[in-house]
This record gives sequence, C-alpha cells and structure tokens, in this order.
Amino acid sequence: MINFTFQNSTKIIFGKDTESQVGQETRLYGKKVLLHYGGGSIKKYGLYNKVIASLKKANIGWVELGGVQPNPRLSLIRDGINMCKNLDIDFILAIGGGSVIDSAKAIAVGAKYDGDVWDFFMRKEEISDALPIGVLLTIPAAGSESSTGSVVTNDDGQLKKDIGSQLLLPKFAILNPEITFTLPSYQTAAGVTDMMAHIMERYFTNVTHVNLTDRLSEGALKTIIINAKRVFDQPNNYDARAELMWASTIAHNGLLDTGRIGDWASHMIEHELSGIYDIAHGAGLAIIFPAWMKYVYQHDVNRFAQFAVNVWDIPMNFSNPAETALLGIEKMENFFSSIGMPTTLSEVNIPEDRFDEMASKATFFGTLGNFVTLEKDDIRKIYELAK
Ligand code: NZQ
Ligand code: ZN
Repeated sequence: MINFTFQNSTKIIFGKDTESQVGQETRLYGKKVLLHYGGGSIKKYGLYNKVIASLKKANIGWVELGGVQPNPRLSLIRDGINMCKNLDIDFILAIGGGSVIDSAKAIAVGAKYDGDVWDFFMRKEEISDALPIGVLLTIPAAGSESSTGSVVTNDDGQLKKDIGSQLLLPKFAILNPEITFTLPSYQTAAGVTDMMAHIMERYFTNVTHVNLTDRLSEGALKTIIINAKRVFDQPNNYDARAELMWASTIAHNGLLDTGRIGDWASHMIEHELSGIYDIAHGAGLAIIFPAWMKYVYQHDVNRFAQFAVNVWDIPMNFSNPAETALLGIEKMENFFSSIGMPTTLSEVNIPEDRFDEMASKATFFGTLGNFVTLEKDDIRKIYELAK
C-alpha cells in the first residue's frame, strides 16, 4: 500500500423525501443561487416545484439556467459564467446527473476567473478559486456529486476534457433513490456501467498489498450487479435503487482509491466516443472496458483471474489462470449486453476510419494509463478490438 491523504468533505443527505432539505442546506452557503438543470426531466416529474418550494421557504433568491445536454457543452457553461458574474450569484445548485453537476463545476471555476474557463481544461491555468456548489442528484452514475472532477465537451472541435480540484467538491449532495424511479432503462444501464467502471479503473493497479480496497471494490461491484438485475425487473424497487445510488457515490468519492494508483486509460479512451459521437458515457465504457481488458490482461493475469473469481464467480483454473481471466472478461461483457448496453463500436455506428483521429485526441496530453502505459498505437489497437 502506498501513502495517501483521504478527505472527502461533501455532506451526503440520503433517503426518502430528502429533497425537501435543499433550501435549508443551500441557505448555509448562499442567498442568490444559480439553479442549473438539464433538458426537462426535473419539471416533467415534479422535482422542480419541490425545489422551488424549499428555496422559497428558506428565503433564497434564484436565477435559472436549464438546458444542460448529456456530455455538457462549453457554450452553455460560458453563458452560466456570465450570469454568475453579472447577477452576483454566490452559490450554484445542480439538479441532475453528471452532466449538470460537471457543468455547474465548470461555471463555478469560470465565475472566479477573468480569462476563458477552457484554459483550465487545456492545463494552462491551475484552479485556485471556485463558487461553492450543491447537488440534488437524479441519476446514479458519474459520481460527480462527491468527486473532485468535471468533464466538459468543447463544442468547437468536440474535444472532451477534464479538470480536477478539491475546490470542486460539492458542499452537499442530496440523494433520494425515489427520484431515480423515472429513469429510462438505458440511462439506468449506462449509470450502472459507469459506476462499475469507476471501481474497475481503481481495481487494476500495480500496487501490491491493497487487500482492504480490493475486497471493498469486489463487494461494491457484486452489489451493483445484483441490484442492477433487481432494478430491471422492478424499476420502483426502493431498496435496489438505494443500493445503486449509494454505490455510485462510493465508487467515485476517493475511498476506493486509498493506498493504490488507479489506471484511468479506459475513461480517457471512452471520452473520444462520447465527445465526438455524443453517446452516453456509460455506453461508451461498456464498449471500451472489455476491449482494454483483452489488450492488457497478460500484464497481470493473476489480478484478472482474482477479478473473475471474486466478482464474476468463475471457478479458478489453477493450471490455466489466463483462461479464468478471459472467462471473467467474457462474463462482464455478457452482463453489459444483458442490461442493454452496446459492447462494440459498430453498434453505435462509429466507423473504423475515425480510429486514428480518436487515438490522436485521446493522447492529446501524452500517454494514457498507470496499470499499463498506452501510446497512440495501443489505443488504436484497442479501438480495433472493440469494433
Ligand atoms: O436532461 P434531463 O431531461 O434531466 O434528462 C437526463 C439526461 O438525458 C436523464 N435523467 C437524469 N435523471 C433522470 C433522468 N430522466 C428521468 N428521470 C430522472 N430521474 O438522464 C440523461 C443523462 O444524464 P447525465 O447527467 O448525462 O448522466 P450521467 O450522470 O451519466 O452523467 C454523464 C456525464 O458525467 C461525466 C461523463 O463524461 C458525462 O459527460 N462524468 C463525470 C465524472 C465526474 N465529474 O467525476 C466522472 C465520470 O467518469 C464521467 O466522465
Ligand atoms: Zn465514468
């Protein structure tokens, strides 16, 4: 195990009817709030009116910026930054999933900066200040509700890039699993895949003696797999939705990182799919993760065999651990298919003649991956494996 510092200061408020607390929590940080949300699900399903009632009760003023698209766009973020600067906004309330939260985080950074917020994504500037934000989560997936990151697509050139800072940790995140009953099954499945991917990015490490985080990760993955199946049978099963919602936060709040170094190449390779082709991030991961695994498993066959045995219940073949490892990857791929995720690039109409461009964009800042270091040519081969 390596040295680590773990601090996650986001206050989690979890359970039924907790959205009624949004006004009183917001009041701790702001008096004039930017209400930030997506394409309309919060109005369609009644959450918007509940939030407004809670804000009014807490005597908080607000202005609104809706319309965040999945894979949030820089152009809307720039609008939000102008609103914050011109209207004396002191707090941003994100109501939605990873896209809304990430958009809110980028606005929070840009509101405190005189230049163009894209400078941070291009690594020309370090984050030194940000408006505080709070979250009312509507989809368990990205884990952005208690993560330090934000991922944004620049509409000009379809470059999807990320920033990270402790300053981006939301002050609070309200998680009511009932709100997720209305999720379309495709979004539920994309969320399940993303939260699993966050755990697997951390699981495949070269650091040894990380037993505790290995077992926590395997347990979290098994919990997600079991409860995903329950939710597909019974979309209004509160307890199954609750397990998924809490798992998505745990998967990405830093706890499972402790004492180890995660890989993260699959996420970066995926961002070219959702950045250029605007597919759901989770769907992209269902395609990329199995291909990445097939490409790198020989680097540490025993770790992949352990993953197959402890997560996917594959019997260990001691005379041929590589076979065990490959069976685990196959079972994972079948699971993604069974919940309605694509597992090949052709299923989402991504043509082979774009692989080179995607591999170039993925290596924009250099090589990828910590478990195995990948050059541009390796990434092109992973796209080939995924076709
Ligand atoms: O826009 P509305 O109408 O609200 O509909 C949304 C959207 O179309 C819908 N939805 C959300 N909650 C709903 C609902 N529909 C019905 N009922 C509800 N309760 O779901 C759709 C997808 O929403 P989105 O926010 O895009 O989903 P997700 O949470 O998966 O976020 C994906 C984004 O997060 C980024 C991804 O790259 C992607 O851009 N990520 C952010 C991370 C971070 N900041 O730490 C880490 C992740 O790895 C990821 O990269
Ligand atoms: Zn992700």
